[in-house]
Parts: sequence; C-alpha cells; structure tokens
Amino acid sequence: MKMQNPDLQQKIAEAIANPKNMGEMASADAVGAVGSPNCGDMVRMWVKFKEENGKKVIDRATFQAFGCETAIAVASLATEMIKGKTVDEAFALSGQELARDLGPLPPMKIHCGELVEGALRSALRPTVVSNPKPLVSQTGAGTLLDSFASSATATKPVKMVFLKEGE
Ligand code: FES
Repeated sequence: MKMQNPDLQQKIAEAIANPKNMGEMASADAVGAVGSPNCGDMVRMWVKFKEENGKKVIDRATFQAFGCETAIAVASLATEMIKGKTVDEAFALSGQELARDLGPLPPMKIHCGELVEGALRSALRPTVVSNPKPLVSQTGAGTLLDSFASSATATKPVKMVFLKEGE
C-alpha cells in the first residue's frame, strides 16, 4: 500500500530536532492542558495575548508535550502558526490544520494533532470541558497526571480537558 505522506517521518524529525517555543511561559495569560485516554500522552499550552489594530491577538505561545514525536512536532508548528491570530481564528484550527506543514497525518496519528488542538482550545476557552472522565486514578499518588496537574495549578488555574474516545 502506498504511503499517503512518505515525507512525514523526515518532517517530524526536522521539527523535533529544533522544536520552537517549548517550555513553560511564566507570563502567560492563559494555559490549557489535555490528555488522551487512548495513549496516555498529554500536551500543555501557554498563550500570551497582545493588542494589534484594536484586536486581541496571540502574541506568542509555548508548549510542553508528554507524548510522542508527532505531538511534539505538531505543537511546535502550532505555536508558530497561531501567532497574530485572534482567539476565534486560533480556536477554529483543527489538529490537521495545525499539522499542515507535516502534510496529512495517517489515521493512527490523527489523535496526536487533536491533542494539540485540545490543549490550544482549552487555553483559549478554559470553560470548555468535553469529558471530565479522569485519564488515570486521581488517588494514584505520583502518577504522571498528578504531577502534571499539580505543577499546572501551581502557577495558574488550569482546566484539564480529556478528549472523548474516537475524537
Ligand atoms: Fe498519542 Fe501521539 S501517540 S499523542
């Protein structure tokens, strides 16, 4: 069977060799996080706004990804792509659109782009909760989610949003 995007691995390798905007942003105006119940990966995103021509637009964004290389690559590209966009414009971007520079993602990697989409959307509209079902037991001390959530709330309130199965 012919691969739809034979350059994907190389493009991902290039993106993660020099990831853009990786790390926490102390001065962020908004932060969002999302976890996938399917693979256990998580992405967190920080966004800073500015006024431009009377409009509130994204000045810059940063991310942390506890996940696969595709998620890291998409997050890196997404933080560049959304600069200068309004909240509505950035919110409307799908995972596939955020991953545009990688080319089409294969079916098993589509959720990696959706994870970035979810983290961005939860930062931009922190009241959106699609599925509050916990990824792992909240009583499981020392889990990745616990440390992720507690470090997120240490700086600013963060709403964890979990993707629905099959989204
Ligand atoms: Fe889950 Fe990529 S395999 S985010």
